[in-house]
Amino acid sequence: MTETLLRGRTLTFLRWPEAIDDHGAWRYEEDGGLLLRDGRIAAAGAYADVAAKAGEGAKVIDHRPHLVVPGFIDAHAHFPQMQVIASYGAELLEWLNTYTFPEETKFLNAQHGRRIARLFLDEMIRHGTTTVAAYCSVHRESAEAFFAESHDRDMLNIAGKVMMDRNAPDGLTDTPRSGYDDTKALIAEWHGKGRQHYAITPRFAITSTPEQMEMAGALAKEFPGLHIQTHLSENHDEIAYTCELYPQAKDYTDVYAHYGLLGSRTLLGHSIHLSEREADVISDAGSVAVFCPTSNLFLGSGLFDYQRFRRREKPLRIAAATDVGGGTNYSMLRTMDEGYKVIAIQGEKLNPFQSFWQITRGNAEALSVADRVGTLDEGSDADIIVLDSRATSVMELRMETVRSLAEELFLLQTLGDDRAVREVYVSGKPAKSILAG
Ligand code: GUN
Ligand code: ZN
Repeated sequence: MTETLLRGRTLTFLRWPEAIDDHGAWRYEEDGGLLLRDGRIAAAGAYADVAAKAGEGAKVIDHRPHLVVPGFIDAHAHFPQMQVIASYGAELLEWLNTYTFPEETKFLNAQHGRRIARLFLDEMIRHGTTTVAAYCSVHRESAEAFFAESHDRDMLNIAGKVMMDRNAPDGLTDTPRSGYDDTKALIAEWHGKGRQHYAITPRFAITSTPEQMEMAGALAKEFPGLHIQTHLSENHDEIAYTCELYPQAKDYTDVYAHYGLLGSRTLLGHSIHLSEREADVISDAGSVAVFCPTSNLFLGSGLFDYQRFRRREKPLRIAAATDVGGGTNYSMLRTMDEGYKVIAIQGEKLNPFQSFWQITRGNAEALSVADRVGTLDEGSDADIIVLDSRATSVMELRMETVRSLAEELFLLQTLGDDRAVREVYVSGKPAKSILAG
């Protein structure tokens, strides 16, 4: 039995922090300890108490003065879009047709898929993200590649091949039957293998016929414990076209509701332009609205109304995500910096404790995996990151005037990126320091 004993300033959340002085919402240890055993957190608390529980041979790693927090969680990203990120000058539908769809056709090639999956998960680790809900391409091979890479690294990831059978180029469509069969085969092979979770992934209403939506609904019924991920109400042209394609639907949300796709494990990417009726339906279903600020700004899609969604009488569950490659950065710190601005421009604020809650425990709860990841609780999987608030000269100088943990977290969010991530532990093993380059 190998044990690792981490020492550092540990921070973990117990619940949503109502305010910046809501100290009961988090646990912070100035001299904290985490005992890692068999990929799990065996003990957490003050270093002296945790050290007393460690065996003789425990390997001690001293991360002081750095912050030790749960690994970040990214609730929505597209791994086949690594070579799409930073494509100029288009709104959603044109961006998909011009850049994204042609790029995704390459993922029929299993070798290409494996290379990009490897580089994608390297980048996740480098940026401190230990769990991602990922879209693969339409090709079964791309999901095979993603899961094989993820499983090799013992990461807890959620992924699925997209189902799409229309309004896309040749080479990037399946059929209602093949989408169903391939999804079922991938579930059988990967769901529950190690830490892998399969997500049923109809891309969005525009690229699925009603027949394919029926099949997605049938899968959701057959496998009620699985995640479902799709896109919703990101862009006005997208919404108008969806309503043309599904004239019998009350609105965009009703398309997914009609086919039985709204449940508590449904992740609705973007969810920007929702009517009150739609927000009520999503809230009643317990589905999750996924906030993708860098993407929404980059594609000019709109401003996600985080605080209104949270405070409404029927609140929405919210997750935060990069949406690479519509999103422009792999970092959840950069994501929350942009998220702060999206919220600020609507006259609201998200305080730094709320931000850090969101990208750790908040996203874990939204993804229904908080029993395993997103906290430093005893019994959790040991997915842990180490943050250096003085990682750059700009940060170091600003840290000279920082007087509180709240200020430090806000500095990390506003100025930090992958350089601030000193180490990443996945299932208790160092994963960042072993990356090449
Ligand atoms: N809607 C359907 N597919 C996509 C995608 O790949 N990216 C974004 N941002 N929106 C989508
Ligand atoms: Zn997306």
